[in-house]
Amino acid sequence: MSEQNLFKVTIDNITIDVPAGTTILQAARKIGGQVAPPAMCYYSKLQGSGGKCRTCLVEVSKGSEKDPRPMPKLVASCRTTVMDGMEVKNITSEKVIDARASIVEFLLINHPLDCPICDQAGECHLQDLSFDHGKSGTRFEFQKRTFKKHDLGQNIQLHMTRCILCYRCVFTADQLTQKRVHGILDRGDHAEIATHIEKSLDNEFIGNVIDVCPVGALTDKTFRFKNRVWFLKPMDAHRDCPTCSGRVTLWNRGDEVYRVTARKDEWGEIEDTPDGKPGWICNTCRFETKNAKDWVIEGPRAISRQSVISQGHYQGTVGMTKPNETFGAINEGRTPHLLMDIHDESEVNKHSGYTSKNNIENA
Ligand code: SF4
Ligand code: FES
Repeated sequence: MSEQNLFKVTIDNITIDVPAGTTILQAARKIGGQVAPPAMCYYSKLQGSGGKCRTCLVEVSKGSEKDPRPMPKLVASCRTTVMDGMEVKNITSEKVIDARASIVEFLLINHPLDCPICDQAGECHLQDLSFDHGKSGTRFEFQKRTFKKHDLGQNIQLHMTRCILCYRCVFTADQLTQKRVHGILDRGDHAEIATHIEKSLDNEFIGNVIDVCPVGALTDKTFRFKNRVWFLKPMDAHRDCPTCSGRVTLWNRGDEVYRVTARKDEWGEIEDTPDGKPGWICNTCRFETKNAKDWVIEGPRAISRQSVISQGHYQGTVGMTKPNETFGAINEGRTPHLLMDIHDESEVNKHSGYTSKNNIENA
């Protein structure tokens, strides 16, 4: 067996050895936790992905053992390979934190703030990124771009207004299916994901574009507006599928299966099957097999404790956490609607002649 050439790299003061050719992002993921930069366009299961969004920027404070000069600019960690002796700063760099806040501001220039009605809420990478790095205000003074919603076939809806042009869905269609019929049309401010002549995406593996989309631009029409992800219980399940691995996560409420997705790892990417191949799932498993009896349930899906999805679902492994106190007990017997009358507190209805007095008299 040939000996692998290992490089020593230090990221946020933690040193590891990685094979030559490893990117800074992959090395940081080996360390794990906060040291791994966020990635909105890179997807390890898709060849050629990365280099589009700039959320993974890091500072290289020492180039290598042979040439210790720092790199003059922040670099995209998903596209930069490590050198022996390289030193990298991610969360320990003020420049990086500052740049990341600007990237979030940039990504939100056109992205609508419609999280309360978006199906991706609770599992959106842009929502997490904004929560960690965003600012409360915006300097953007113009209209955001808007687009009509498109049905891309029977089961997928495209909300171009939410797209951040990461290209992941294009690579997925290109690499998983024989016939890609969508891509990015036009350039600059006019760039958009489109099927050009509104062809539908009907390949048997095309549903995977929903799983790779980091935002809510591509959504599952069999699930849209049916429930919020944090009210559902994710369960690992499998079936004997002739087309794909059949290993999925079922999103249940009671016995009802609301949604079927591929299993995702801690980076939000499709998990590998035991034979080491990416566990993409077919359209039949995803859209048409929504009866619990079709599946062999393996058990609750492990979800990060930090995720909103795990809130209120499991205590330890299984169980419900309920508060012991009632609202009335905390507020000395007062019921919520007696606490505050919005019309006494705000002048919002002043010019319409509507007051809390009208409200009471007309009630
Ligand atoms: S639709 Fe989603 S996956 Fe496709 S380019 Fe836009 S953000 Fe990326
Ligand atoms: S994840 Fe590296 S540029 Fe998008």
